[in-house]
Amino acid sequence: MNSLRSYISGTGSYLPANVVTNDDLAQRVDTSDEWIYARTGIRQRYFADQNESTSDLAERAAIAAISDAHLTPSDIGLIVVATTTPTHTFPSVATGLQRRLNTPVCPAFDIQAVCAGFSYALDVADKYVKSGVAKHALVVGAECMSKLLNWEDRNTCVLFGDGAGAVVLSARDDHEGIIASRLFADGQYKELLWVPNGPSWKKSADPADNYMQMKGSEVFKVAVSQLRDLVAQVLEDSPYQTGDIDKLVPHQANIRIIKSVAEKLKLPMEKVVTTVDKHANTSAASVPLALDDAVKSGQIQRGDLIFMEAFGGGFAWGGALVRF
Ligand code: ACO
Repeated sequence: MNSLRSYISGTGSYLPANVVTNDDLAQRVDTSDEWIYARTGIRQRYFADQNESTSDLAERAAIAAISDAHLTPSDIGLIVVATTTPTHTFPSVATGLQRRLNTPVCPAFDIQAVCAGFSYALDVADKYVKSGVAKHALVVGAECMSKLLNWEDRNTCVLFGDGAGAVVLSARDDHEGIIASRLFADGQYKELLWVPNGPSWKKSADPADNYMQMKGSEVFKVAVSQLRDLVAQVLEDSPYQTGDIDKLVPHQANIRIIKSVAEKLKLPMEKVVTTVDKHANTSAASVPLALDDAVKSGQIQRGDLIFMEAFGGGFAWGGALVRF
């Protein structure tokens, strides 16, 4: 091999201290552990407290990933953060990380693709690394989804959690690294999953329009069909087949979506990383959190062929085939 590839040289993650079980939620809204677990596979989630921001979670995950890569912040030449819940309207979480970590002056920006954010961030960072612009890139997915939840809406408030995951991508010419990656979006589905009000537009004065709204069963159907097609589309750009995948690292939204996609791909569940039971849906943080969990627990080993995928609001979706 003589061209540069992006190798995942380190992974890291961080979860806030506050564990919230389904039974805890049932004290607050009309729901039950049985309903939530049967419909979603979620048992618990972590919530940041009032004094914790997305930047705080991102910083802890970033430090862990840089250390895991045996690097220091002084080695980082690009910072990309995927988030839907930035600390400030501006500036970005990424520029805040550059300051907190005291990395050299470098490009730093946020990407907003909701639950697909990490797939988007990884794809963009890969292009900088492969082209030789950045030798080591910090790619983070971080969210405080709890701060977007409407506690009057039991359809959504039971599904999400907070957390952060990070990887360092390093340029190498002797490793397959990121083999293929593809991104997609179709804006016609905007109103199926959104927060109607934003910094530049107020749909209404109804407080519910400041929080997440979702038509869950419609999201479910599109997610399953697009994620199944996505794997085949990414594999087309590689010499590999579905059967070659050692581990699927899917977006952790709902165990039924994960199982449906695995079944359609004929991948046994032993090859699928699942953390939705303990993390719930952490949006852009979900895939890097699951990746770090699987790496640290030994489920994913160096040399494994892994497929990471995600789908979310927009709709936006994407995935990458990676030699770990
Ligand atoms: N507790 C108890 N009952 C509830 C709750 C709750 N938390 N929430 C809804 N219900 C009730 C509803 O009021 C409704 O009752 P009704 O029939 O009397 O009106 C009923 O349960 C709805 O049940 P179902 O339609 O059978 O629910 P479904 O099986 O579709 O599950 C769910 C809902 C979990 C939201 C599912 O549609 C889903 O997971 N969709 C995917 C959405 C998702 O994961 N989005 C995340 C972002 S996108 C992504 O990441 C892929």
